Amino acid sequence: MSETVIGWSDDLYTGNTIIDTQHQFLFTLLDKMEKDATSDSVKLILTEIANYTTTHFCDEEALMSKEKFPDLVHHRILHASLIHEVTLLQEQASQHKLSNWVHVHRFLKEWLREHICNEDLTFSRFVQEK
Ligand SMILES: [Fe+2]
Repeated sequence: MSETVIGWSDDLYTGNTIIDTQHQFLFTLLDKMEKDATSDSVKLILTEIANYTTTHFCDEEALMSKEKFPDLVHHRILHASLIHEVTLLQEQASQHKLSNWVHVHRFLKEWLREHICNEDLTFSRFVQEK
């Protein structure tokens, strides 16, 4: 059994209720994937993650644009690269080329935690200091 990847924790709060709720829901979906790691249903969860992530990134970027966040272009590139990765995972899953769901779950959870800590919280501090 692989070691557990940390999910949501209170140090990830950005202070924006909508964004925080969306982040928490993404972790809930990833927990769901972890629990169903051997089942076919993880493909459906991956689709759910892809759709929800797209919506969440749009909301986040709209907020950054409204706040005139200077690092928006950089942040958009990070979002686009994750969407690209998830799209590749979906393609592999649909071609039955993906079997290591633990690896997928781990990658997504670590990406999300790191992104919130390093990027979203930078935006949060920018808003608070305005
Ligand atoms: Fe973000």
